[in-house]
Parts: sequence; structure tokens; C-alpha cells
Amino acid sequence: MLKKPRVVIIGAGMAGLTAANKLYTHSNNTTFDLSVFEGGSRIGGRINTFEFSSERIEMGATWIHGIGGSPVYKIAEEAGSLVSDEPWECMDSTADKARTFAEGGFEVDPSVVEPVSGLFNALMELAQGKKKEKEKKITQNDVVSGLGSIYENATSVGSFLKSGFDAYRDATGNGGNGSLEEAIFTMFSNTQRTYTSADDLWTLDYAAESEYQMFPGEEITIAKGYVSVIHHLASVLPHGVIQLNRTVTKIEWESCEECPVRLHFSDGSVVFADHVIVTVSLGVLKAGIESDDELFSPPLPEFKSDAIKRLGYGVVNKLFVEVSERNFPSLQLVFGREDSDSRFVKIPWWMRRTATIAPIHSNSKVLLSWFAGKEAIELEKLTDEEIIDGVLTTISCLTGKQVKNGYVNGNDNEVLRITKVLKSKWGGDPLFRGSYSYVAVGSSGDDLDALAEPLPKINKKSGQGKCHDQTKVHELQVMFAGEATHRTHYSTTHGAYYSGMREANRLLKHYKCDF
Ligand SMILES: Cc1cc2nc3c(=O)[nH]c(=O)nc-3n(C[C@H](O)[C@H](O)[C@H](O)COP(=O)(O)OP(=O)(O)OC[C@H]3O[C@@H](n4cnc5c(N)ncnc54)[C@H](O)[C@@H]3O)c2cc1C
Ligand SMILES: *[C@@H]1O[C@H](CO)[C@@H](O)[C@H](O)[C@H]1NC(C)=O
Ligand SMILES: *[C@@H]1O[C@H](CO)[C@@H](O)[C@H](O)[C@H]1NC(C)=O
Ligand SMILES: *[C@@H]1O[C@H](CO)[C@@H](O)[C@H](O)[C@H]1NC(C)=O
Ligand SMILES: *[C@@H]1O[C@H](CO)[C@@H](O)[C@H](O)[C@H]1NC(C)=O
Ligand SMILES: *[C@@H]1O[C@H](CO)[C@@H](O)[C@H](O)[C@H]1NC(C)=O
Repeated sequence: MLKKPRVVIIGAGMAGLTAANKLYTHSNNTTFDLSVFEGGSRIGGRINTFEFSSERIEMGATWIHGIGGSPVYKIAEEAGSLVSDEPWECMDSTADKARTFAEGGFEVDPSVVEPVSGLFNALMELAQGKKKEKEKKITQNDVVSGLGSIYENATSVGSFLKSGFDAYRDATGNGGNGSLEEAIFTMFSNTQRTYTSADDLWTLDYAAESEYQMFPGEEITIAKGYVSVIHHLASVLPHGVIQLNRTVTKIEWESCEECPVRLHFSDGSVVFADHVIVTVSLGVLKAGIESDDELFSPPLPEFKSDAIKRLGYGVVNKLFVEVSERNFPSLQLVFGREDSDSRFVKIPWWMRRTATIAPIHSNSKVLLSWFAGKEAIELEKLTDEEIIDGVLTTISCLTGKQVKNGYVNGNDNEVLRITKVLKSKWGGDPLFRGSYSYVAVGSSGDDLDALAEPLPKINKKSGQGKCHDQTKVHELQVMFAGEATHRTHYSTTHGAYYSGMREANRLLKHYKCDF
């Protein structure tokens, strides 16, 4: 009997487990000798459902971005993950009732916020190329429809938003330097930083924005936790296929031996494989090619390493705090410009680009804020006391609410206290080194495609490469999956899912078992 081809998947996140599930179920466990090696002590990767203050929360992936046609939604439905007796994060939309407060210590009337949010949303729809679908809505906004053409030459989302806002200011007379409108617009721009993970929207490529696709329909969170989708995928795999605590330190490829790929692990062990599907994050790949001790040997070809270098990969973190009272409102936070007089010096810089503080569902004592870029990196370093102080100071300066800093007990119901803190630390974790990828200025969708290409590149004619007889070169030695390898759905769980499917199908086709 012929030896089964040995397939190793590196990483037990959405991409890796989707590929494993597909390879296993589709070949009836007869075609491949399959293993999944995961560096961490759990499966799920950037999907990590957690418990905090007796509530189910998500440290990583949170939303199904549009349920219409989403494969993640389909799995969640099959797995019975969409209903639960227990409350869960964002089970109800508290954002609709959000109140807006500005530095200076006053509440901003919705009649001031709404035109700016309308402008911002219309601009992002234009940027994302949804102009046609949304034509009606946009033409209602005379300012944007009349000035659409001036955005043609934008290079970054940041420059695009600036021209959009400038045009609005010139047309309406609202939004001069230091104005409330400008500060509100900045707040919405900051939410865009957390959606994209770009620290600075001036580094976010404008042209690529319109290639990015969203599913139609509602955006929802998963009642039984995002990780229930992961467990559903993993449940078909026999015991022993997934091995935890196995960090790969080197991938030797392009050898002419029988087993062409050799994997080295942090514990010194070595595993041979015919095919490796690498699903580690773009951040891990960036570190891997920049390190003195490269992750790949020989190093990746230039077309690949250049794409890895050019693409953007940022840090987004979530902060959860348990407060002493229920029914705390959802807050939108508007901060003054650096040169404005009304700035409260006590508010730390790392709070100043946080757009919202909101309970995870109505009646929850757990408040959530999202952080991106430099602020997200700083958050990882702060002590709980510094975080409590920064959050409470911000709340008190903007809303005038009485707060009590530090961990203190007491029963004064009028005074807001924070009793517990939990934050994600995606940036500092060597298994992730950040949160998700984006197309940076200087890069393009082609780089996402380049990242997806398997190695070695077979060139049967010219006979280049280490193996001089190219007809004997093993195909598909190193394959790549993961969110950053999907041209139109990068940064998402469903992008990771599609990429895992793509690579599993590539192998199935190679072995002609794509029945
Ligand atoms: C804070 C946050 C919020 C998010 N919100 C959303 C959201 O609302 N909706 C959405 O769709 N997406 C969201 N995402 C993105 C989503 O989580 C990811 O796109 C997706 O989970 C990535 O899956 P993956 O399989 O590509 O990578 P990963 O999940 O990173 O899987 C790769 C695996 O490889 C392992 N690994 C790394 N290095 C090694 C090594 N050397 N050896 C062995 N194993 C290794 C890692 O431990 C990891 O388990 C969010 C992410 C974060 C961080
Ligand atoms: C799959 O395996 C089962 C049991 O091992 C067997 O009964 C079945 O015929 C197989 N199917 C295919 C398509 O090989
Ligand atoms: C799958 O195959 C392996 C050997 O390759 C065997 O150990 C295992 O029991 C099989 N699992 C099932 C469910 O058939
Ligand atoms: C992995 O490591 C963690 C922490 O180091 C340990 O608690 C866990 O038992 C290990 N799991 C396995 C399967 O080895
Ligand atoms: C965009 O740039 C081109 C070339 O620089 C220029 O000819 C064109 O007028 C610009 N379009 C707009 C709307 O500014
Ligand atoms: C706003 O300030 C910037 C520099 O800070 C300046 O270039 C611009 O002309 C000012 N705009 C208005 C409308 O005052």
C-alpha cells in the first residue's frame, strides 16, 4: 500500500481548522496523514471566548460581519450556537441609544451628531464603492453627492476623509478648526481605526477599500460564543490530530528528499511532511522574515517577502471593566484637539482616541471599549490601577459623573467604581503579534494574492531552483492560509475560513480526490 501523503497544518485557528476539517471529511480519513500543530495551549487563535464577571465575552473576533451568505453564520446555525439562555456580548444593540459627551463636560445633542455621522457614513460608503447601492441615500446628502468627484485622487482613507470633511465645511460653514463637528468627525474616524487596525488612517490604502467585500444583512454576535464555531469544526477530527503547545520555530523546505519539508519545534523535535499549510498571522510572518533566525529556510522568495513587508498589520485590543452599577449608558466620547483650551489635562493620551464606552448588553455591569494602534499597544503595558484611573477620569470629565478611583469598596450608589479589569494583549503575544491585516498605502490586493501562492513556484521549463531537475520538484510544499491571504475578505473570520477551504481544495485537487 502506498504511503499516505503527510500533511501538516501550522495553527489551530479558523483557517487551520477549516482546512483540517475539509481534508479529513472530504477524503474519508483515507487519503492523508494529517496533523495540526498549534503553538498555544488552546484552539481558536484570534477567536477566544472568555468569561469575565460571570458574563460570556469575546477577547478576539466578536461579530459575524453580515449574516447573508456568511459561512461562519452557516456553521454557527448548524452548531446551534445562535441561541443561549445566558446573556452574551452585544446580544442587544445598546449603541442605538448611545449618548454623546464632549470634553468640556457637556452632552452633545443628537441634532449635532447626526449630520456628522451621516456625512461620515456616506463618505465611507463612497470609499467602499457602495455608491451605486446607496445612491439614493447619498444623493439625499447634497454635500457629498455634489462633491463626489474631488475624491477621485485620494491615496489613503485618511486623505479621502479629510477632503470630504473640508468639502462639507466649505459647503455648510460648519466644522471650522477646533469645532465640535470636527471633533465628532474625528470620533467616527477613530472607530474606523478599530475596524481596520490601521493606527493612522493616512496609511490605509484608498483604492483597496473598494475591493473589500461585506456580506449583506445584520451583523450579529454568537450566543454560545465564537469559539463554539471552532469546536464544531474541530469535532470531526480524531483525538491526536491537533497537538497543542507545539510551536514551530523553523520551516525547512525546497529539499529534494523524499519528505521535502522539515519542521523544527521549540522543544527541539523535528517533523517531516510532504505538505505544510502555514496559517500563522501576518504579524508572525513579518517577525519571521525580519528575525536573524529566519522562520523559513531557505528564506521566502522576494515576491513573497515583499508582500509580507508591504501589507499592513495592526493592533486592536478590547478592554472590559466591571463597574459598580447596572444601567450605565452607552457613551460616545468626543475629545478636543490638542491645541484646544477646553482640554482636561488629567485625561491620559491613550484614552483620547477611544470612541465609545458601553455596556456589553443592557443591564450588564461590564463595559467595553475598543483600542487601536499606539493606544492599543500602550493598554497592554498599563497596570489595572492606571486603567481604572484613566477610564474613570475620562467618564467624570466628560459626563460630570462622580467616580471613585482605585479599587475601593463602599456602597455609595451615586459614585461609579470599577471593580474588575480585563484586556486583550494581541500585540505582545508572540503567537499573534497584532490583531488583523489591512492594505497599507504602497501595497495592494495583489500582495494579498501573492501571500496566498504556494511554494515552490514551479517552472518546468527553466529548471531554476535548488533541485535542478524541476520535474522532480515536490509541488505544494509550503502553502499559505489565514485571514491575510484573502483578497476581498481579509481581516475576518470568514476570510480565514475561505482561505482554509481554498488550500484544502488545492491539495484535494492535486491528489485528484476533489469528488
Ligand atoms: C480584537 C479582535 C477583534 C476581532 N473582531 C473580529 C470580528 O468582529 N469579526 C471578524 O470576522 N473577525 C474579527 N477579528 C479577526 C479574526 O479573529 C481573524 O481574522 C481570524 O480569527 C484569523 O484566523 P486565522 O486562522 O487566519 O489566524 P489565527 O487565528 O491567528 O490562527 C493562527 C494560529 O497559529 C498559531 N501559531 C502562530 N505561530 C505559530 C507557530 N510558530 N507555531 C505553531 N502555531 C503558531 C496561533 O497560536 C494561532 O492559533 C478580530 C480579531 C481581533 C484580534
Ligand atoms: C468511508 O469510510 C467508511 C468506513 O470506513 C466506508 O464505509 C465508506 O464506504 C467510505 N466512503 C468512501 C467514499 O470511501
Ligand atoms: C483514521 O485513520 C487513522 C490512521 O491513518 C486511524 O488511526 C483512525 O482510527 C482513523 N479514524 C477513523 C475515524 O476512521
Ligand atoms: C500546554 O501548556 C499549558 C501551559 O503551559 C498547560 O497548562 C497545558 O496542560 C499544556 N497542554 C498540553 C496538551 O500539553
Ligand atoms: C486627479 O489627478 C489627475 C492627474 O493628476 C488630474 O488630471 C485630475 O484633474 C484630478 N482629478 C480631480 C477630480 O482632482
Ligand atoms: C485649520 O488649521 C490648519 C492648520 O492647523 C490650516 O492649514 C487650515 O487652513 C485651517 N483651516 C481653517 C478653515 O481655518
